[in-house]
Amino acid sequence: MCCKKNVRNYYPIFSGTGDNPTIMKKELKIHYTEYDEQNLPQADRELLAKATQMAQTAYAPYSHFKVGAALRLKNGAVVCGSNQENAAYPSGLCAERVAVFSAAASYPDQAIEALAITAISSKPINHPIAPCGACRQSIIEYEHKFRQPIRLILRGSSGKIAVFDSIGSLLPFQFNNDELDF
Ligand code: THU
Repeated sequence: MCCKKNVRNYYPIFSGTGDNPTIMKKELKIHYTEYDEQNLPQADRELLAKATQMAQTAYAPYSHFKVGAALRLKNGAVVCGSNQENAAYPSGLCAERVAVFSAAASYPDQAIEALAITAISSKPINHPIAPCGACRQSIIEYEHKFRQPIRLILRGSSGKIAVFDSIGSLLPFQFNNDELDF
């Protein structure tokens, strides 16, 4: 039996008791940092620029919503993705999973350090674009695998940039392989 232990980057949990001590209201706090382009750290800016280029390569004839993703591995390699749609809709894949699976296939031993995500649509997107639930689950698998937090850099086509220290912040109560008997 293997004894893998996952990284759990947990967030402060604040709790308060009411009249009934068996009932606890709890609250999760998520921390992130908001930047303008000019004060974003250089490495993040480069990754975001790459994600922005990648959005142009999306194949999105059905949604017209073009997503670009770029990630940096521990060895410095940058691996990219864009969403790829399909006439049989569920057969398409999000940009993040294209990038993450491609990185895992090409560099199976390299941890993902950071992932930038952006999108272009027919209407302006002036707020950070966050990965969908399925992508969060797929990304977090590699955070667990390498026991290293994956920094997320999120932006729309313009506007503020939201930076999370870990994908875990976007997926509280995550399902992970601690639950599996393997
Ligand atoms: N999409 C992504 O690429 N990433 C996400 O996290 C959310 C959605 C894509 C899927 C589809 O091609 C289009 O955006 C509209 O949902």
